[in-house]
Amino acid sequence: MILITGGAGFIGGNFVHHWFERRARLGLPAEQLVVFDKLTYAGNPLTIKPLLDSGAATLIQADICDREAVRQALERFKPRAILHFAAESHVDRSIHGPGEFIQTNMVGTFSLLEEARAYWNALEGDAKAAFRFLHVSTDEVYGSLSDTDPAFSETTAYAPNSPYSASKAGSDHLVRAYHHTYGFPTLTTNCSNNYGPYHFPEKLIPLMILNALDGKPLPVYGDGLNIRDWLYVRDHCEAICQVLDKGTLGEVYNVGGINEIRNIDVVTTICRKLDALRPRADGQPYESQITYVTDRPGHDRRYAIDPTKIQRDIGWSPAESFESGIDKTVRWYLDNTEWISTVRSGAYRDWIATNYADRQA
Ligand code: NAD
Ligand code: TYD
Repeated sequence: MILITGGAGFIGGNFVHHWFERRARLGLPAEQLVVFDKLTYAGNPLTIKPLLDSGAATLIQADICDREAVRQALERFKPRAILHFAAESHVDRSIHGPGEFIQTNMVGTFSLLEEARAYWNALEGDAKAAFRFLHVSTDEVYGSLSDTDPAFSETTAYAPNSPYSASKAGSDHLVRAYHHTYGFPTLTTNCSNNYGPYHFPEKLIPLMILNALDGKPLPVYGDGLNIRDWLYVRDHCEAICQVLDKGTLGEVYNVGGINEIRNIDVVTTICRKLDALRPRADGQPYESQITYVTDRPGHDRRYAIDPTKIQRDIGWSPAESFESGIDKTVRWYLDNTEWISTVRSGAYRDWIATNYADRQA
């Protein structure tokens, strides 16, 4: 039994699917998952519905800041590991309202660590030795690179620039301290920008796909030359499985897609893919919808991961190129209209109005 926080979100939800598919592929027993998720705007049980319906996964709707709820879940399910995905994850939202980010990402991680440490302390023998706490974090804790800087490695100094990345940096430091001080068995992964199915359409790639199809502007921040290192979400999920199995306690592993791409090139790639798969009725290219808008405050210029350590010590490398991953992603959004309609509620429309209303074209 594994307990996974944030398992109804984008990466956690993909992880739930990946976990069972991988174990079947490798001939391993179908070890159960307990999804511990508050179901904020970003959490959607529909993402993992088949696995909830089959009983392979169980959903507990609760907040990681609620220590009593965490304690009860640990006592009831007795997991051999905790995979910690739950977070507030969107940089633009952290600029409009940082409080929730401090609460969930820092206070929530602290609550979870405290309850997990008490649970682990009470374990004995093999169960205690085998227990793992895997913390999922981001490359954004390392700050911003210039075009010529080397990619982030595990020894790059922390320099978070947004309330989001600062709150994730704080959570990383707590995890590190719990290993150093208490010998608590932690593993940390810091990954680059993920993309793929079930991605909430406030983030660049799903927002561009859905705005394009709706005939709306494609809002590119600033000059569009910011660079992200795009990682297909299932590659990330596989990395987490392998770090859980083979990682050295207390260590950090950077996970990257080896796909550094400028934002404008991401957007034009999506446009051309849609031109081929779902051409506009008027025959015009989707690129004609691209609109440059006011930049994000404090916008980090470039992120890039050096994945040497995870390749060398764990034996993981990404399987998808950006071309293959974006093809799967665009097709998924064209085919999954039910999921899309469930996440574009009134609250979603309110967010789009808040974030884009004051950006000058
Ligand atoms: P997401 O926003 O899609 O999902 C977050 C999930 O956590 C949701 O299901 C939400 O309901 C849940 N959640 C939020 N607050 C909670 C709380 N207080 N208690 C319990 N559950 C709560 O995020 P994601 O993109 O899936 O990211 C997962 C993790 O990966 C995060 O820790 C994020 O920082 C990290 N990460 C994401 C990316 C990316 O590109 N998406 C890149 C690097 C790191
Ligand atoms: P995002 O998906 O929010 O991820 P992050 O900020 O964590 O990297 O944004 C990816 C990049 O795309 C980032 O440089 C900001 C940019 N961006 C736009 O240009 N327009 C948009 O509407 C959004 C949401 C992001």
